[in-house]
Amino acid sequence: MGMNPKQLVGEAAAAHVKDGMIVGLGTGSTAYFAILKIGEMVKNGLKIKGVPTSKQTEELATTLGIPLLPINEVKKIDLTIDGADEFDAHKNLIKGGGAALLREKIIASVTDYYIIITDASKQSEVLGSFALPVEVTPFAKEITLMQLKALGCEATFRKKGGDLLVTDNQNYIADCKFERIPNPVELNLKINQIPGVVENGLFTEMADLIISEDGKGNLIQIS
Ligand code: A5P
Repeated sequence: MGMNPKQLVGEAAAAHVKDGMIVGLGTGSTAYFAILKIGEMVKNGLKIKGVPTSKQTEELATTLGIPLLPINEVKKIDLTIDGADEFDAHKNLIKGGGAALLREKIIASVTDYYIIITDASKQSEVLGSFALPVEVTPFAKEITLMQLKALGCEATFRKKGGDLLVTDNQNYIADCKFERIPNPVELNLKINQIPGVVENGLFTEMADLIISEDGKGNLIQIS
């Protein structure tokens, strides 16, 4: 049996990390393998500073001994490696399945080279298979949900256990199921015009490289 596909793409992305870089560290089960590899490289002498995209990743990086840069000392990030929930051939992404989309998008926005690690099962011709996560401020959450639904989706707040899931930023996640998202650039802007929306999981014109796996152990790169 070959290497776990998530490990394969994770390690391929980690190979882009070079001495002296400031590196954005993604969230999720695929980013996990990239971070594990980076941790190993740090143990072997690599000098980098990491910027975690979630509390979960912060804990992992700390455990692995990866030095971290406080977010308010960050001016730019050389390279970020993160996962995605859905992607298309134009490198548009849906993210936020792990509820970390706000920190992920802020970190992506100051990143020079943004690598997404994923697998072929998450590729679509047109985005929309994965319900789009939208981070919503708690105040008047039902008004915000109504305004999201008016854009043409079915929307529900994500739960964890019996309660509403609360993000690292003390907000909620509305999962918005659109049939198809033929124009992600436009939808991203429309959603972010709703006052109660903090940010949404459409990442357009951000990814520089997608490293995927074809289901048979072969790497696919979209740049
Ligand atoms: C976190 O909020 C998401 O954007 C993740 O990057 C995404 O859910 C990918 O996770 P997996 O690699 O576990 O599928």
